[in-house]
Amino acid sequence: MTKNYLDVAIEIAQEAGKILVEELSRPLNIVYKGNEVDLVTQADKRSERFIVERLTKYFPDHAIAAEEGTGHESASASDFRWHVDPLDGTTNFAHGYPCFSVSIALAQRDTLLAAAVFNPFYHELFTAARGEGATFNGKKIRVSKVTTLSTSLLCTGFPVRNRQASPNLQYYGDFTQHSHGVRRDGSAALDLASVAASRFDGFWEFGLQKWDTAAGVLLVEEAGGKVSDFAGNPYQLGGPVILATNGLIHEEMRALALEISIRPQEPFRS
Ligand code: IPD
Ligand code: CA
Ligand code: CA
Repeated sequence: MTKNYLDVAIEIAQEAGKILVEELSRPLNIVYKGNEVDLVTQADKRSERFIVERLTKYFPDHAIAAEEGTGHESASASDFRWHVDPLDGTTNFAHGYPCFSVSIALAQRDTLLAAAVFNPFYHELFTAARGEGATFNGKKIRVSKVTTLSTSLLCTGFPVRNRQASPNLQYYGDFTQHSHGVRRDGSAALDLASVAASRFDGFWEFGLQKWDTAAGVLLVEEAGGKVSDFAGNPYQLGGPVILATNGLIHEEMRALALEISIRPQEPFRS
């Protein structure tokens, strides 16, 4: 059955991706969700409307948790729940920077079953089904074989809400000093997909939501990588911090994260 779920996730992610590319050439209609960095566009809403409608048509009993709030999360008694980010990387999208994606995942209770992350601008499709591996544009993918943090390429992200409370600048600085570099691409779903596809060796971020990470977590796990929190406990969707790596640099990243967390914080100097 898993295959069918994955087929549906792929079909819907690709169709929603077409909507995003169409919207990219239209005038932007930005609304701010409470502050000047948390934005939502017409494209987020159109994409979500389409995804929720199509998922509901296929699986009327399943719960849908979708970022812009048009899903039907609690009405359902079903064990099955779709996690939908209709446009991951809204800030990039709004600036015409083509690093954005549609992210769709299905979970049965706490078990992720199927995942699709699609960058419609570059036609890059990442998929995973539990127990069946992960693919990039139809070809099997594995995480990288890099064994040391000092030779790793990493990625992170920063929250759009409550930015001043985020500890991540400190982590960003330290991980930059201890690796080949840290990228900030602006789409957590693609960041995780890039760990699965061995473009990045590790990724961490604070404060991500379930729809940001659900698909990407299954991608990393099915590509042979490791996902946890900084304490090494299994990552719970929506948990305060996610660490996703090729597995080989996981403990080194955790050790550095621990060191940063217990060090007295210095004021940031410019
Ligand atoms: C954001 C992106 C970004 C991450 C932010 C998320 P959105 O999602 O995933 O990479 O750093 O924390 O909120 O708002 O573009 O769907
Ligand atoms: Ca997101
Ligand atoms: Ca989004």
